[in-house]
Amino acid sequence: MNIVILAAGMGKRMNSDLPKVLHPLAGKPLLAHVIETARALAPLKLFVVYGHGGEKVPQTMLASDLAFVRQEPQLGTGHAVMQAASQLDESVPTLVLYGDVPLTAVASLRRLSAAAGTDQLAILTVDLDDPNGYGRIVRDDGRIVRIVEQKDASKQELMIGEVNTGIMIAPTAKLKHWLSALSNRNAQEEYYLTDIVAQAVAEGVAVVSAQPDAVWETLGVNSKVQLAELERIHQCNTASMLLEQGVTLADPARIDVRGKLNCGRDVSIDVNCIFEGHVTLADGVSVGANCVIRDSKILAGAQIRPFCHIDGAEVGANSQIGPYARLRPGANLGEEVHIGNFVEIKNSRIAAQSKANHLAYVGDSTVGSRVNIGAGAITCNYDGANKHQTVIEDDAFIGTNCELVAPVRVGSGATLGAGTTLTRDAPAGSLTVSRAKQVTIDTWKRPTKSK
Ligand code: UD1
Ligand code: MG
Repeated sequence: MNIVILAAGMGKRMNSDLPKVLHPLAGKPLLAHVIETARALAPLKLFVVYGHGGEKVPQTMLASDLAFVRQEPQLGTGHAVMQAASQLDESVPTLVLYGDVPLTAVASLRRLSAAAGTDQLAILTVDLDDPNGYGRIVRDDGRIVRIVEQKDASKQELMIGEVNTGIMIAPTAKLKHWLSALSNRNAQEEYYLTDIVAQAVAEGVAVVSAQPDAVWETLGVNSKVQLAELERIHQCNTASMLLEQGVTLADPARIDVRGKLNCGRDVSIDVNCIFEGHVTLADGVSVGANCVIRDSKILAGAQIRPFCHIDGAEVGANSQIGPYARLRPGANLGEEVHIGNFVEIKNSRIAAQSKANHLAYVGDSTVGSRVNIGAGAITCNYDGANKHQTVIEDDAFIGTNCELVAPVRVGSGATLGAGTTLTRDAPAGSLTVSRAKQVTIDTWKRPTKSK
C-alpha cells in the first residue's frame, strides 16, 4: 500500500511553538510512533504531509524511506492528501493515517486493510458515548452513505455515536479522482477528505468499516491534557505487558518506559523508575526505587539499589550498584562489582569483584579484578585540555582520598596510602605514599583573639 500520514495541522490548543506532531509521547515524537506503525505494514511508499511549523518536521524525522510533502496553506484533510496524490502508486491502495494519533495498533490497520480488499473504501470507526467534535458515520439500512462533520451536522446526525477516526484506506486511482472533485462548500470552508465517502457511494463503490480493539487506539492529541492522558494509557499498556511477561512491578502505575525495555525472568522493579532508549535487565535483576536507566545492559542477578542513574553502561552479573550511584557512558563493569553511594564511573572498565563503595570518581580508567577503591578516591583524568588514562592493575588497594593524576599506572597488588597524590606510577606489590610525614609540634599555641 501507499501510506499518507497527515501532519500539517497546527495544533493551536497545544499552546506551543513546537509543531504538534513533534511533541513527545514515551520519549519520542507523536509522529515517530505513527511512522513506526506505518513501517510495520511494509508500505510501498510512505508520505508525511507537513506544513505548520515549517521545516522542523522533516528536519526532525528525516529518514530514507520517508517522502515529505509540504502543504501550504492548510486547507483541510482532503487538501492535505491531494498534495501527495500525484506520487501515489495506483497499483496498490492508499492508507491515510494522522500524525497526531500515536497509538493505533498494527492489527487494527491490518483488519481495516483486509476489509477494504483491493477495490473498496474502508473506514476505521468507533462508537463513542460522547461523539462531540468528530465526523459522524451516516448509515442507511446499515450501509455507510456519508460522513458528516460536527459543524455541518443536523440535530439528528449529532445523535449518531459512530464516528470517523480519520483513518481510512481507499483504492488509489479512485481516490485521486475523488480528491480532484472535492469542494470546500461547507461550514469550515475546507476540503474534507471525508467527502470522498459520498462520492464512492454515488459511484457504486462499496464503503465498509472496521473497528479497532480499543478506543484509545484512535484517540488523537489536541492539547497537553490529551497528550498526558495518552502517555498514561501507553505506559499502562507497557506495564501490563511487562507483568504478563513475568516482571514484578511494585506499582504498574509508577513505571515509565521511554523506549525498549527487555527483561529476563524474575526481574523486579520498584516504584518510580524510568527506562530510556534500549535497556536490558537480565534474569534475576532487581531495580530499586527512583532509578533512571538509559541505553544500558544489566546482567543476570545484578542489584541496582534506589536512586541510581545509569546511562550507556554495562553492569556485570551479580554486581551491586548504589544507592545513589552514577554510571556514565562507557562504564563497563565485570561480575560482582560493587559501586556504592556517590560514586561516579565514566568510560572505564572495572573487572570482576572490584569495589568502589563510597564517594569516588573513576574516569577514563582500566581497573583490574579485586581492586579496592577507597572513599573519596579520584582519578584526575582531565588536565584542562586533554583526557588521560589511569590503569589500576589486579588486587591493588587505593587508600582513602587518593588522587591519581593521569596518565598513571598502579601495579598489581600495590597499595596507595590514604591521601596520596599519585603523579608517577606506583610499583606492583609495594606501599606508595606521597603525603608528608605526620609531626606533632609541642611548642605550638592556638592564637588568641586580640582585644
Ligand atoms: C477529522 C475528520 C473527522 C474525524 C476526526 C478524527 C475531516 C474533514 N474530518 O476532523 O471526520 O472524526 O478528524 O479526529 O477529515 N491536517 C493536515 N492538513 C490540513 C488539515 C488537517 O495535515 O489542512 C491533519 C492534522 O494535522 C491532523 C489530521 O489532519 O493530523 C486531522 O485534522 P484535524 O483538523 O484534527 O481534523 P478534525 O477537524 O479533527
Ligand atoms: Mg482533530
